[in-house]
Amino acid sequence: MENERRDFMGMALGACAAVGGVGALYAAKRTWDPLPSVKAAGFTTVDLSVAKPNELMVEKWRGKPIFILKKTAEMKANDRDIVIGSDRYHVSIGLCTHLGCIPAYKKDTKTFFCACHGGVFDASGINEPNLPPPSPLEIPPYKIAGTTLILGESGPEYKKMLDAGLTV
Ligand code: FES
Repeated sequence: MENERRDFMGMALGACAAVGGVGALYAAKRTWDPLPSVKAAGFTTVDLSVAKPNELMVEKWRGKPIFILKKTAEMKANDRDIVIGSDRYHVSIGLCTHLGCIPAYKKDTKTFFCACHGGVFDASGINEPNLPPPSPLEIPPYKIAGTTLILGESGPEYKKMLDAGLTV
């Protein structure tokens, strides 16, 4: 009788411990998971005020490299530029439109060079003619808030570029 009582107590304690353990695991998982809104929305924010002219910054958005190039005063303006005050930025998805290699930025020629098949894009991401890339580097959906670039959100500036056929 005493043994049965002890077995029952043991089982009850074990069950409590198991429930507690599952609860702790669930709480831990909730802590480790990224916030649902961040994960679902897939936003990346970048402070453009730290960018230096003619120095390429590469960020990551949804697993893709994003090129951010602050233009120098001498670089040709383009409708694809993001303009903040008197500063101009080129922002694009850093994947060659030929077969998807990641081009390198050449500071001296101020061009993006794709070593895979010799593709070249200018500082506005426009592909040079008679080379393999068929179209300019694509512009990711973005929104501007002050000097912050929010990748993954379609702001009015991006929609304007899209409507004008400046990106796909
Ligand atoms: S992948 Fe860039 S030129 Fe072919």
